[in-house]
Amino acid sequence: MSFGLGRGRALEPGAVAVSEAELPPMSDAVMTDPLAGRVDPRAWFADPGRPLEIEIGSGKGTFLIQHAEQHPETNFLGIEWAREFFEYAADRIRRRRAGLADEETGRDELSAAPARALLNVRMLHADASEFIRWRVPDGIVRVIHLYFSDPWPKSRHHRRRVVQDRFLAEAARVLVPGGEVRVVTDHAELWAWDSAYFADWAEDPSGLLDREAAARGAADVARERRERPVGMPGVKPFVMAPFARSAGAGEGELVGTNFERKYRREGRAFWAVVLRRA
Ligand SMILES: C[S@@+](CC[C@H](N)C(=O)[O-])C[C@H]1O[C@@H](n2cnc3c(N)ncnc32)[C@H](O)[C@@H]1O
Repeated sequence: MSFGLGRGRALEPGAVAVSEAELPPMSDAVMTDPLAGRVDPRAWFADPGRPLEIEIGSGKGTFLIQHAEQHPETNFLGIEWAREFFEYAADRIRRRRAGLADEETGRDELSAAPARALLNVRMLHADASEFIRWRVPDGIVRVIHLYFSDPWPKSRHHRRRVVQDRFLAEAARVLVPGGEVRVVTDHAELWAWDSAYFADWAEDPSGLLDREAAARGAADVARERRERPVGMPGVKPFVMAPFARSAGAGEGELVGTNFERKYRREGRAFWAVVLRRA
């Protein structure tokens, strides 16, 4: 299915896209050595010494572009598994790097920007949960952004939701101390599911856990957890913290993604929280 995102124009991810040379397919060696697939994504950036942030499910790339422009001292890796959205976001970043007009917003104020602008953003076409699990080394990510994640409302699809025991265990592993998973959603049922997981994975000294939502989500989560929760340590690895709005967000926004803007126009409610690595 095509969403017609390029409006007939061929999308060109160009050098914004992480190439197969940079991320070769995983070898069979991971069968015996789970660490054999690890790569260091910091090496994919012009300045690998900068802090690394990952966005899961970048969609059209609006948040990523705004945030990367606001934080040139940070490297951002956007991961998107839907090919057309991945190509669209990468093409948008490539065009902005080249100083071309942004067809999404109609703005071309970046046309005078230096060509090096946005060298701190790359796009990866992958399943972010799998990428983080198999490829990312320990303790190198400062923030994982998860905004308006697909709710997968049918119960047979719940296992495709990003927030699961495995994901939280891997997020705790790859984050630097004090690093964050930042979550925003408009979907009450997904929020209930997420909150049930947060109750198990995060300390809550400030009373930020939505206990009513966690109780609602507990039954769904219990149904999916057929095995012992993966990687559950004796001590919860996260602390819940309030969500501070992003620098690139517009008036009254939390992060300023495409979905947030659309849903805000529809008057929907939002839920947001930060899980901080202890
Ligand atoms: C509802 S859209 C939200 C897009 C964007 N974050 C926004 O707020 O406008 C969710 C996006 O996440 C992508 N996605 C969902 N799960 C993913 C995963 N495990 N890895 C990479 N992308 C994923 C989907 O393809 C989709 O583009």
